[in-house]
Amino acid sequence: MTFLKDGKNLISILEQYHKQSIEKMVPVLRQRTISDLHEKFGLANHIKNGDLSGDMLDGFIKTYLENTTKLYHPGYMAHQVGAPHSTGALGSLIDGFTNNAMAIYEMGPGAAAIEFFMVNYLLEKIGWEPMPTQIEERLIYPHGAGVLTHGGSLANMTALLAARNHLDKNVREKGNPGDLVILAPDSCHYSILKAAGMIGIGEDNLIALETDNNGRVKVSKMGLAVIKATRANKRIVALVANACSTGTGLYDPIDEIADFCKEHNIWFHVDGAHGASALFSSTHKSRLKGLIKADSMIIDAHKMLRTPTVCASLLVKDAATLDHTFEHTASYLFHEKKQPGFDFIGQAIECTKAGLGLKFFMTLAALGETNIQDYIDTTFRVALRAYDYIRSQPDFCVPCKPESNILCFRINACDEDQIAIRDRLIEAGRFYISSTELAGVRYLRIVVISPKTSLGDIKQLIATIREIQADRVSGT
Ligand SMILES: Cc1ncc(COP(=O)(O)O)c(C=O)c1O
Repeated sequence: MTFLKDGKNLISILEQYHKQSIEKMVPVLRQRTISDLHEKFGLANHIKNGDLSGDMLDGFIKTYLENTTKLYHPGYMAHQVGAPHSTGALGSLIDGFTNNAMAIYEMGPGAAAIEFFMVNYLLEKIGWEPMPTQIEERLIYPHGAGVLTHGGSLANMTALLAARNHLDKNVREKGNPGDLVILAPDSCHYSILKAAGMIGIGEDNLIALETDNNGRVKVSKMGLAVIKATRANKRIVALVANACSTGTGLYDPIDEIADFCKEHNIWFHVDGAHGASALFSSTHKSRLKGLIKADSMIIDAHKMLRTPTVCASLLVKDAATLDHTFEHTASYLFHEKKQPGFDFIGQAIECTKAGLGLKFFMTLAALGETNIQDYIDTTFRVALRAYDYIRSQPDFCVPCKPESNILCFRINACDEDQIAIRDRLIEAGRFYISSTELAGVRYLRIVVISPKTSLGDIKQLIATIREIQADRVSGT
């Protein structure tokens, strides 16, 4: 077995990759065509010859790495996928090698026990009662529950399924009666819309909550959405709020929305895929005030918690609701086998589930809570400083003050120019940013997520955007 030798080489190549990325010695992104890449990688030949080890493997890895998007690069500011911690990446390697599909306990007791621990760790962060480790006690006293999922989209869908089945326990067997709706702002992540389609509620049955110009829910107008639903004889499955929203990184007023939902007896789901990481920061966790009153929430560890993709979590305040999402009875109590653990399979959409908890745990345990808080606080602070800087530039404007590490802005030019500038930036390879539309206006958008991105990098970005636009105007 060449595993040890290949593995050692791999780690030293990856270390080099990390160094080159953080020192900006390589482009943050270079996009070649699919056929170019197929040829460069020699994919067909490698499969034909079965030769991917030793020097061949080293060569392939280096070519592969050249063609990755470098998340450790300070110029990487495009999307909400974090630069993972190396110990978390080792967790991915262990999980890949051991391949413990831990959704049933006997297929990975270690992985399942760690997932159990991580779910409880998150429940406690929210202030919800953790699950008893003695499974027989699960029905004895009220507590929360949760499951790690392959991404936030699945976590959102699972939450909405739990809400749907909580509202009407017959839907799972009989199908949707056609009178179900979800209330959510237009600024919600499109996985909510997708989920509405997938769980049979229908995308058209998402009733939009009124928002301000920056997409934040207006609490005073929420009653109108409820009236609209009631007048149309619709039943509300859930009300969804952003913590924070994907486009602007702004938080909906969770506390007030929670009170509203309680008063109207509506399931309150908080999409915290990105911004619930503020739970780890004493400086920013006030943004999540009232989260304890929600019924369900999600958080993506692969966004702001330095964990390799994918690793998300769905959490519910009342374990019974998740127990009844996929089954009528608590199957972990009534099965033919004797086991000392817990089968997550009854709580999840997936059947074969990776040991997601391992890389999540290994990341947090390598960093420690102080460093996680530092990372979150630093990225949020850099975004705030960038806001002050960009709005002081006469040729730029910023639509809203950031509340997280996401910041939108635009150079004073038309919408098409923003898109063309982004294309040129990406081609040049020093910066990779995204763009979004707010209230019909196109903005450039950055997510300060690489631990190495500083205000200096953002100042360089602004100078580069200005140069690109000047060149475009002068036709060069
Ligand atoms: C607010 C929000 N919810 C859900 C998701 C979906 O998460 P995932 O990409 O892990 O499926 C995202 C992704 O960016 C998001 O920003």
